[in-house]
Amino acid sequence: MNKNQDRWTSVNGADAVRLDDVRKTYGRGENRVEALRGVTMSFPRGSFTAVMGPSGSGKSTFLHCAAGLDVSSSGSVVLDGKELGGMNENQLTRLRRERVGFIFQAFNLMPALNVEQNVGLPFRLAGRRPDRSSVMEVLSRVGLVERRKHLPSELSGGQQQRVAIARALIMRPAVIFADEPTGALDTQTTIEVLQLLRETVTNGGQTIIMVTHDPVAASAAHRVLFLADGQFIGELEAPTADVVAERMTHLTAWQQTRPTQYTGRGGF
Ligand SMILES: Nc1ncnc2c1ncn2[C@@H]1O[C@H](COP(=O)(O)OP(=O)(O)O)[C@@H](O)[C@H]1O
Ligand SMILES: [Mg+2]
Repeated sequence: MNKNQDRWTSVNGADAVRLDDVRKTYGRGENRVEALRGVTMSFPRGSFTAVMGPSGSGKSTFLHCAAGLDVSSSGSVVLDGKELGGMNENQLTRLRRERVGFIFQAFNLMPALNVEQNVGLPFRLAGRRPDRSSVMEVLSRVGLVERRKHLPSELSGGQQQRVAIARALIMRPAVIFADEPTGALDTQTTIEVLQLLRETVTNGGQTIIMVTHDPVAASAAHRVLFLADGQFIGELEAPTADVVAERMTHLTAWQQTRPTQYTGRGGF
């Protein structure tokens, strides 16, 4: 790491992720859609943020741009002190493997690998042997030590998502991006998974950015950001499910009165 980079990292060390005037445009001419329209937001280390918004508001696009899965059309994204803008695909892949964890609605576990092999997978992808003590440590954090030899098909949905959380945690990432992590779970399991996510933030200092449409899931976060029409238009600190649900109702009604942006393409 060169000297400049070092200084840069320390100056901006308080934020795990920062976006500055990020824009993302898809298509051209009459098919042109501005999915993000100047997003500026920071995500401090050790914070748990939920991102909500109506269908087509830009949630997935935001997540992909912030996580380095896609490149923004303009503006700056700084993840773990590094500007993504100047990186090539190899550098982005490496950053994602080593500094970013992902949790998806569909768990995305490897069906032929058992629990401990799934959790150790990020090591394999980085060309290293899984570190056994790290695997055991994250398995004990998610309460699955006894199940470590089981296949995903032998586990409940909630247990599978806990495996995915362990896999996301194992590289000690600067940030975990979660996309509807409780979307496939029943109410009781949803609460357990949310408690676990919240614990990794409170006790482990993890940073989480979670896209969700569920007010109960959002209420597990420290803060909820509301996205509409490609822009952040509001936030709630220490959210409760009731207040979040009420805001969402207003937001959806508001977006439906907006012209053109959402009528042309299949955002709904
Ligand atoms: N690959 C793409 N090509 C063209 N338009 C897209 C693409 N991905 C998303 N969009 C458009 O960008 C807008 C935001 O989409 P998206 O980020 O998926 O919203 P959300 O996740 O909130 O539903 C929508 O109008 C959608 O149709
Ligand atoms: Mg989406």
